[in-house]
Amino acid sequence: MAARKKIIAANWKMNHTHREAKSYADLLWTEVGVVNEIEVVLIPPFTAIPALAEALQKNPIARLGAQNMHWEKCGAFTGEISTTMLRALNVNYVVLGHSERRRLFGETDEIINRKITAALSAGLRPIVCVGETLAERDSKRVEEVLKRQIQEGLNGVNSNQFQDLVIAYEPLWAIGTGRTATPEQAQEAHVFIRSVIASISEHPIAAEIRIQYGGSVKPENAEELLRQPDIDGALVGGASLDPRSFAQIIRSAVAVSA
Ligand code: PGA
Repeated sequence: MAARKKIIAANWKMNHTHREAKSYADLLWTEVGVVNEIEVVLIPPFTAIPALAEALQKNPIARLGAQNMHWEKCGAFTGEISTTMLRALNVNYVVLGHSERRRLFGETDEIINRKITAALSAGLRPIVCVGETLAERDSKRVEEVLKRQIQEGLNGVNSNQFQDLVIAYEPLWAIGTGRTATPEQAQEAHVFIRSVIASISEHPIAAEIRIQYGGSVKPENAEELLRQPDIDGALVGGASLDPRSFAQIIRSAVAVSA
């Protein structure tokens, strides 16, 4: 089995203008430069993608991701962005199924499934977010929820395309709350997610899929989480907004990958 390269992604959500994105890239470049031991992904708002794409061409410190996309290639969909537009800007990754999209914008497993299918056929690598609410955890429904989100999200996707997926386990009660899952809780969920992937693949791919943890990852807790055998990276929100703190998380990932 090839070792899973850790993937550390910065999800800026609705923060940073294109100018701020440019200074961010400059600062991250001076903080960490190019790292080869792990993969770094910057996921800005759409408006900052062109500026960041240009900055990353000069200093290739990270790959580029988008926070959302539409499943159609073009057409009358006011306010939407297509895979073709993202690919034209050298975007590699796209976050799909984020809990904020599910909760605040009504995205269902079916919509997420359409997006995952479209992303894969356009050559974009989906970062598929799954995770339970606190009520679901308290009522011992974590496995049921994760299983449903994965099975429905990946419905109809050929398992030889699974190698292009990243899964992000993001328990809702840990997102933006300062409350992190313990390394043991996260590890347990990751093992379960890997077993669900194994159960729906025709290829022995589950051991190769990278599963990130997301939810209040910060410099102080990154290393401990990333040391867990099934935690293959982090999807970082709040703590990724400052390039210095994101750089510290990158350094932790490099340290555990040595
Ligand atoms: P957080 O967000 O790091 O601010 O908790 C993570 C996410 O929503 O991806």
